[in-house]
Amino acid sequence: MKKLIPSYLSVPFIFFAVFAATEFFIDSGERPAFIKFPMVTVFLLVFLFIIIAIEITITAVNNVTYYLLTAEEKAKLNESKNWSLTENKWYKKLVGLLIKPESSAEVSEDQLLLDHDYDGIKELDNNLPPWWVYLFYASIVFGVVYMVRFEILGADNQEMELKKEIAQAKIEVAEYMKTAPDMMDEKTVTLLTEAGDLATGKEIFNTNCAACHRTDGGGQIGPNLTDNQWILGGGIKNIFHTLVNGGRDGKGMISWKGTLKPKEMQKVASYVISLNGTNPPDAKAPEGEVYVE
Ligand code: HEC
Repeated sequence: MKKLIPSYLSVPFIFFAVFAATEFFIDSGERPAFIKFPMVTVFLLVFLFIIIAIEITITAVNNVTYYLLTAEEKAKLNESKNWSLTENKWYKKLVGLLIKPESSAEVSEDQLLLDHDYDGIKELDNNLPPWWVYLFYASIVFGVVYMVRFEILGADNQEMELKKEIAQAKIEVAEYMKTAPDMMDEKTVTLLTEAGDLATGKEIFNTNCAACHRTDGGGQIGPNLTDNQWILGGGIKNIFHTLVNGGRDGKGMISWKGTLKPKEMQKVASYVISLNGTNPPDAKAPEGEVYVE
């Protein structure tokens, strides 16, 4: 029947504990769970409603049972009332420390009254509330620490921190791009010249392309890839574009983006460029325009 914690503390506490638990356990990506999943909001509201209802019921039941007690039992109960939080010694001390009520309780108002009077509006010279004073001291300590850290020891300011983070992010992106095979498009593709890459390109070419372009690139169903004339444009970017999108409709050159990874297309395109000027025997006649970068 005695309540250790008053309901204006226990209800918010229970509610926020459950709220924190939903945020912690429900994986909702960057947005909070109660925004991403409206059901969570509904659940929290219903839950809040229920705990308030329970509190009200318990209080009502307590009041009723209190009336049913005999005088003796009531006295006994009141004796042990200081179990409750608001009656606690340390609780009172804490409240006293934060709002220092002596000034209003023990000193009469006349003693505190200042001698000015604005159309009947008077002013009391109350103590500053201790919480305010502590905040003030804390801000002085903060100011000193801040001053020493940033002005004397020269720690990074926000702009510097941002610059460092951006630089770090750039390094990480570059690192990621090195290992991510799918991060490339015709704008970022570059010509590879390393023997290893070209060898892989050659392998891909012999498996997928030689049927139409011949192993030496001289051309059969597809055009000659060793001359400097191109139907769809030469250079790494155009060839990459041709591989991703295929040739003109009905000509037989399909899009390779479903079969080859971007890195593989880059390698085979680089290999095709390395075939330039090899002049294989009985190659197909050049088609298209001479390509200049
Ligand atoms: C089924 C036959 C076929 C296969 C397989 C094929 N191609 Fe083609 N390729 C063609 C034809 C046909 C064209 C001409 C398309 C056009 O005229 O639009 C062409 C065009 C090209 C072009 C553009 C040539 C230019 O003059 O602009 C390139 C580069 C190319 N192919 C590379 C490849 C690579 C690399 C592969 C393997 C991944 C490949 N092709 C596989 C038939 C093929």
